[in-house]
Amino acid sequence: MQVVKSIFDVRRVRRGLPGSWGLVPTMGFLHAGHLALAERARAENDHVGASIFVNPTQFGPTEDLAAYPRDLPRDLALLEAAGVDLVWTPPVDEVYPAGFQSYVTVEEVTRVLEGAARPTHFRGVSTVVAKLFNIFQPDRAYFGQKDAQQVVVIQRMVTDLNFPLEIVVCPTVREADGLALSSRNTYLTPEQRAAAPVLYRALCGARDAWLSGEHDGERLRQIMRAILAAEPLARPDYVSAADPFTLAELGDASRGILLSMAVRVGKARLIDNIRLIPDS
Ligand code: PAJ
Repeated sequence: MQVVKSIFDVRRVRRGLPGSWGLVPTMGFLHAGHLALAERARAENDHVGASIFVNPTQFGPTEDLAAYPRDLPRDLALLEAAGVDLVWTPPVDEVYPAGFQSYVTVEEVTRVLEGAARPTHFRGVSTVVAKLFNIFQPDRAYFGQKDAQQVVVIQRMVTDLNFPLEIVVCPTVREADGLALSSRNTYLTPEQRAAAPVLYRALCGARDAWLSGEHDGERLRQIMRAILAAEPLARPDYVSAADPFTLAELGDASRGILLSMAVRVGKARLIDNIRLIPDS
């Protein structure tokens, strides 16, 4: 596995290894969710590239950029074991050199949910992901369903701007009690960690209702809010039952639904979702 810092070296290694490439973008502090993306990329491509970059442009001024957890030696060992060929670990000024002023803005689907709470977040995500696509030029790029809106935004950008690659979406990897794996789970105290599975319980409550025929969006939101309200350590930011493509809040959820939420537990702001599409 080659570990490089410069764009020049990514392109050099990429050119030297012909065949298909899969790309796994990350911000590091890797867990089994990230590794599932790398393993899927390994299975579907001749070569696998990964990036580890805590992207400053996707953090708001009051967010956890400085505190974001990092452990590069451990991350590199895990990626090597997953069969990754090339890892890019750029310094910030390699990605955003002096004079940088070009951003990718995806519009409507970034104004709701995470985008409403974090107004500049998706501009940072789409910009860095567009740069990664141009630098690695992968055939396939791997993203987790855990960040459902991120997937919608990236798919919109790839379609709208004609990036010549396939986006592969991988299922959310969870702890045994349902908590979605996240680098931010390290912010939880033991008591908060015990409370955190309430997100998945609330999503499952609404999922089960939808599966038994409850297709009223507001009723599904109420089911999730009621389950969250029973956990005193959980402070919901939003609870959503939205169209899986436009992300607009739904009244009638019979044609498919993205159930999602952001909930503060202590210092951590946790997000999770379940996507339901009727059998055709
Ligand atoms: P990061 O939070 O490090 O996540 C990297 C990738 O891992 C994302 O596609 C994310 O959805 C996926 N992932 C995280 N937790 C997961 C889980 N429990 N199960 C399955 N997949 C999971 O998302 C980002 O970084 C950044 O926004 C990035 C795309 C790298 C741009 O900076």
